[in-house]
Amino acid sequence: MPKALSAHTISAIRASVPALAEHGPAITKTMYDRLFLEDHIRALFNHSNQGEGGSQVNALATAILAYARNIDNLEPLLPVVERIAQKHIGYNILPEHYPFVATALLDAIADVLGPAATPELLDAWGEGYWFLADLLKEREASIRLDLENSLGGWTGWRQFRISERIRESEVITSFILRPVDGNPVVRHQPGQYLTLRFDIDGGIEVKRNYSISSAPNSESYRISVKREAAGSGGSRYLHDVATIGDIVDLAPPAGDFFLEKDQVRPVILLSAGVGLTPMVSMIETINAERPALEVHYIHAALNSSTHAMDRHVRSLARLHGSIAVSTFYSEPGELDVAGQSHDYDGFISVDWLRSHTPFADADFFLCGPKAFLRSLVNGLWEAGVEPCRIHFEFFGPSDELLAA
Ligand SMILES: Cc1cc2nc3c(=O)[nH]c(=O)nc-3n(C[C@H](O)[C@H](O)[C@H](O)COP(=O)(O)OP(=O)(O)OC[C@H]3O[C@@H](n4cnc5c(N)ncnc54)[C@H](O)[C@@H]3O)c2cc1C
Ligand code: HEM
Repeated sequence: MPKALSAHTISAIRASVPALAEHGPAITKTMYDRLFLEDHIRALFNHSNQGEGGSQVNALATAILAYARNIDNLEPLLPVVERIAQKHIGYNILPEHYPFVATALLDAIADVLGPAATPELLDAWGEGYWFLADLLKEREASIRLDLENSLGGWTGWRQFRISERIRESEVITSFILRPVDGNPVVRHQPGQYLTLRFDIDGGIEVKRNYSISSAPNSESYRISVKREAAGSGGSRYLHDVATIGDIVDLAPPAGDFFLEKDQVRPVILLSAGVGLTPMVSMIETINAERPALEVHYIHAALNSSTHAMDRHVRSLARLHGSIAVSTFYSEPGELDVAGQSHDYDGFISVDWLRSHTPFADADFFLCGPKAFLRSLVNGLWEAGVEPCRIHFEFFGPSDELLAA
């Protein structure tokens, strides 16, 4: 734990909360503009999440505001520190990068607040920034150390070859990734993601996170990618251009959303769309290692043409014996019939969960689009499920999810 903040700094940071709440996004936007004047710092980021109104801008603003609000008691922020540290590992953020953000942040506060940014306020924020930065750096150093000491572990980027492509549905294709050096790969926690770095058309470098959809096996990872028609094209490149034999760079598995090895309570896995990927990794792992664990897997898809890996999941469930699978289609196709191709028409609801699962005793794991998470995470809270039993992953920077 870094040296505690002085009482003086705490009160100056607390006093800045109203100004930050009003100008938070403008400060982070200005901060990023400054930060990205440095090419080597700009290159560290995933540029699909930046820009005007970009989620990354909101995520950092939300984190800074949450920090200022909790400055008296940082306990509730610890899970957020863990999530950010894990994300930084995926993007290979190192101690030497922190001073660039400090300078950009303090310059941005001075710029946006004008005369209200007194030297006292800037000093307090300087001290406050480094307290948070030291917490992150400490945790990141410890994660890196663990990775270096694990069989098959690595830090930074490592080359992997696409050794197989598997079409899972009209929109989702899986890729098996094996290390070019032929050595073992670190066993991930089921639910964690990789960061891929590759060049798309015109040599543009992109970095994207993909949850690992296979169980840990020491030799390879499987990712399952949905083709997004809009956007800057990372997923289109993987679907339309990447072929077997191509090489991509991978940062090691990271993320704080995973099934613990000593999970005892029943597990309810809830996913929608391509949010199934961490769940498939968990189900494969449970099937291989946890014969007595009670699992309820409920998945929502549009219809059978987009629904991926259903047969695979159901065959694992049959082998295991205590994994109950239910599927919901919100837009069933002409040939989709509830009770045959899928179990239910419509959406997963809290009421349905209450009457079909061990609702009061289980741990919930959720992954899917924002609307799905917002509705079910809030619904579970409102239904009295304690926050410590709710775990969720979102496939983007966790701006308002983080705030919630
Ligand atoms: C922890 C984590 C795990 C993930 N796991 C998976 C996974 O297992 N499988 C998977 O398929 N994906 C996963 N993702 C998402 C993945 O990282 C990429 O975001 C996704 O593949 C889209 O990348 P892209 O480059 O194709 O599109 P991007 O450029 O990133 O765009 C994504 C979407 O943003 C919107 N968008 C972007 N730019 C515009 C614009 N100019 N106008 C309008 N809309 C726009 C579009 O809706 C577009 O479809 C994960 C993300 C995270 C953070
Ligand atoms: C105290 C300092 C910092 C704080 C509070 C902070 C906060 C955050 C937050 C909230 C996220 C989003 C996490 C999520 O999606 O769940 C994030 C991601 C990220 N941060 Fe930081 N960060 C800090 C320092 C840095 C530094 C020094 C760098 C590099 C110069 C950096 C680069 C990144 C990158 C590349 C991502 C991932 C971006 C993406 O998903 O597009 N951060 N950080």
